[in-house]
Amino acid sequence: MPQQPSSFILSMTDGLPDRFDHHTTRYLSAMRGQFIDQKAYQERLTKEDPLLYDVFEIKLSEMPGELQHGVSVIHPGKVGDEYFMTKGHFHLVLDTAEVYYCLRGDGVMVMETPEGDWSVEEMHPGTVVYVPPRWAHRSVNVNLESDLVLFFVYPSNAGHDYGSIEQQGFRKLILDRDGRYEIVDNPNWLPPDLR
Ligand SMILES: [Fe+2]
Repeated sequence: MPQQPSSFILSMTDGLPDRFDHHTTRYLSAMRGQFIDQKAYQERLTKEDPLLYDVFEIKLSEMPGELQHGVSVIHPGKVGDEYFMTKGHFHLVLDTAEVYYCLRGDGVMVMETPEGDWSVEEMHPGTVVYVPPRWAHRSVNVNLESDLVLFFVYPSNAGHDYGSIEQQGFRKLILDRDGRYEIVDNPNWLPPDLR
């Protein structure tokens, strides 16, 4: 069934939507193997299981032509030196793009193609990031004092492929170095022809 026209309001103070019908929560325990410092991950998890991010969506039809949209909130924090971040994914329909609009906080979008090309775009309130077709993407909150709040739009039939990133990680890690973020090579990453 095609969607009926609709609207909702994103708060100009906290960036949160005034209505949603799908709320995803991702806790530290759901990110096993994703942070480079496995020891720090285990140590933290034995003490607590913090909420890393929320995703609020209006549930839409997955018919081609529809545009899924919503808000993700990545909370502040680190595992070892690595900032809290989303799992990261390719789209199952690889030739689909996505647009992000930063409403609050400071972060970076880490992106990568199946061939291993990479890109990191900074995000501050007002920044629009275009993720082209074929680029995996992960949002990272580099501000330890504030949530990173992002509005996103992507084709509803795109789907999510989390598996490739779970196995391989991204080529670049975002680490805290004396209060500033640094883009660092992931020692576990292998080029496509060596996997
Ligand atoms: Fe996406």
